[in-house]
Amino acid sequence: MNTQRRTIVAAMIAAGLPIPAFAQGKIVLGFSQVGAESEWRTANTESIKASAKDAGIELKFSDAQQKQENQIKAIRAFIAQKVDVIAFSPVVESGWGTVLQEAKAANIPVILSDRAVNEKDDSLWVSFMGSDFVEEGRRAGRWLVEKMKGSTAAVNIVELQGTVGSAPAIDRKKGFEEIIKADPKFKIIRSQTGDFTRAKGKEVMEAFLKAEGKKINVLYAHNDDMAIGAIQAIEEAGMKPAKDIIIISVDAVKGAFEAMIAGKLNVSVECSPLLGPQLMQAVKDLKAGKTLPKRIVTQEGVFPMEVAAKEFPSRKY
Ligand code: AHR
Repeated sequence: MNTQRRTIVAAMIAAGLPIPAFAQGKIVLGFSQVGAESEWRTANTESIKASAKDAGIELKFSDAQQKQENQIKAIRAFIAQKVDVIAFSPVVESGWGTVLQEAKAANIPVILSDRAVNEKDDSLWVSFMGSDFVEEGRRAGRWLVEKMKGSTAAVNIVELQGTVGSAPAIDRKKGFEEIIKADPKFKIIRSQTGDFTRAKGKEVMEAFLKAEGKKINVLYAHNDDMAIGAIQAIEEAGMKPAKDIIIISVDAVKGAFEAMIAGKLNVSVECSPLLGPQLMQAVKDLKAGKTLPKRIVTQEGVFPMEVAAKEFPSRKY
């Protein structure tokens, strides 16, 4: 600590003010979260807050309410506050170049958590940790192909996409289509965003049902919350979810396990939100001068309804 900082701290202590993090030798992490749109996101926020506390890292947490401009503002505020590390989960993939350049110019390392950005210059972040969303889409597609094996009848699919322009929405669509395109019996007849929320998932499914009714064989939802909202719409339309319409979703949150145990959801592809511990370790490694791997991929599985009751007690989110 330099003399000026030491004088400030002494004055703060004398005035009975709390000792700032830098004076306690604490690492300060600025984290900009997407929002609180889903059960997954709530679990992710809890994981980050709890792990920061356990690791003794001071966390400056900012909720962007699913708006990119709020995330950009938060990142600029972290730069002005001279935090040690910035981490964020980008709501959409593009439009980050300028603010990431600003962080780089201020010598503050940036970690991408959960979602990637679509920027050519990969020196703008030190590491990206999170799921392989394309692979999640492929896993959903492979499960469906296996389920429909042996049948030549047309399979009409409706798709509830995540937030427009977000990495999981783009990649889960891509991975799923990559698998189903091998057999022309699979057709996506409607595809629209439900913004990763239950309310929107229900609303859009209602519109799908109105337009296509009994023609719909399969619902592919990019997350569990939208699937849960859609299940409600299907029941209100007098149909049986998971029987009249096969339902595939992503995340494997507890709410999805409850729906599977109730026989209303066929399968959920896992996407783990428990990124807190590895994020805190990465922050500590950075401060210790270590180089982080550019990409850290979360290991995940697939949970069909048949295993839901057995797996439920060990689920952590
Ligand atoms: O980025 C991860 C995705 O964001 C989750 O699948 C979804 O539930 C969340 O809102």
